[in-house]
Amino acid sequence: MKIGFIGAGKTGFTLGKYFCEHNLNVIGYYSKNFQSAKQAAEFTNTKCFKDIESIVEESDTLFLTVPDGIIKEIWDCIQKLPIKNKIICHCSGSLSSAVFSNIDIHQCYGYSIHPLFAISDKLNSYKEISGAFFTLEGSEERLAEMQSFLEKLGNSVQIINSVNKPIYHSAAVFVSNFIVALMQTGIDLLISCGFDEQSAAKALNPLLIGNVQNIIKQGTTFSLTGPIERSDIGTIEGHLQCIPENEKELYILLSKKLIEIASKKNPERNYELLKNQLEKWGKQ
Ligand SMILES: NC(=O)c1ccc[n+]([C@@H]2O[C@H](COP(=O)([O-])OP(=O)(O)OC[C@H]3O[C@@H](n4cnc5c(N)ncnc54)[C@H](OP(=O)(O)O)[C@@H]3O)[C@@H](O)[C@H]2O)c1
Repeated sequence: MKIGFIGAGKTGFTLGKYFCEHNLNVIGYYSKNFQSAKQAAEFTNTKCFKDIESIVEESDTLFLTVPDGIIKEIWDCIQKLPIKNKIICHCSGSLSSAVFSNIDIHQCYGYSIHPLFAISDKLNSYKEISGAFFTLEGSEERLAEMQSFLEKLGNSVQIINSVNKPIYHSAAVFVSNFIVALMQTGIDLLISCGFDEQSAAKALNPLLIGNVQNIIKQGTTFSLTGPIERSDIGTIEGHLQCIPENEKELYILLSKKLIEIASKKNPERNYELLKNQLEKWGKQ
């Protein structure tokens, strides 16, 4: 494979360096700003390209590591070039390979390859990406080859159906972004009872870390504790009486999800009363 990157940002830097460390043949980078391509080329000891035509010509596999909203624009540009038999990949979590419209006409192969990983640092994230889980979908013809390409790096790979990409991506939003929202909600509630922002975070951090470690170690079901699991209606009512109005809906929705988990953990317990009570509170 002769791999070229279009888009020298966090993902381009990280995957390029990671591939180089695995002795894969990375040709180099093209980017909107030549300085970015130059820096990525220096970082990976590869070439930088001043025009998109040259990198397309020299590569047989292209990674379009540009922002999601730009992938189609780049595809519209490169599909006018000679691309027969080339592999074209993007790394978006939410878009599928369908963004490469008419790819069959060009007799080339399109894939979305998504590392389920927050790539936050273009110079350092490559050191940690070996632990990332990759999802892959796209042209049937070379799917097995692409799977094996990723598995040889040592990463776990799951092939998914292109129609499921938005659902798949929403799972990542729940576990990544929504945790941020929940943490901020906890901080705001502590601030409302006298903590400052810093001490609120300091107080909640061990709870957050312990919880994540438990979930990783023993799964969600056996990590569940608290008033929902205990069906402690009095405590839950107390919470709902004092938390701000806009947090109540969130509290009730999340409690309903926790009842599903608690029912699995404690099949002998009946959570119907709590469920009905939450419905009632939700309508008030
Ligand atoms: N960051 C993550 O955590 C992460 C994780 C998984 C997947 N992804 C996916 O990876 C892709 C890239 O995301 P990112 O986080 O790496 O973004 P990023 O750091 O903003 O990098 C994108 C790069 O694309 C270049 N670019 C923008 N428009 C261009 C154009 N018209 N032609 C050529 N290059 C162009 C920019 O280059 P210049 O510097 O030259 O302006 C920029 O450096 C996205 O599809 C994203 O969904 C990201």
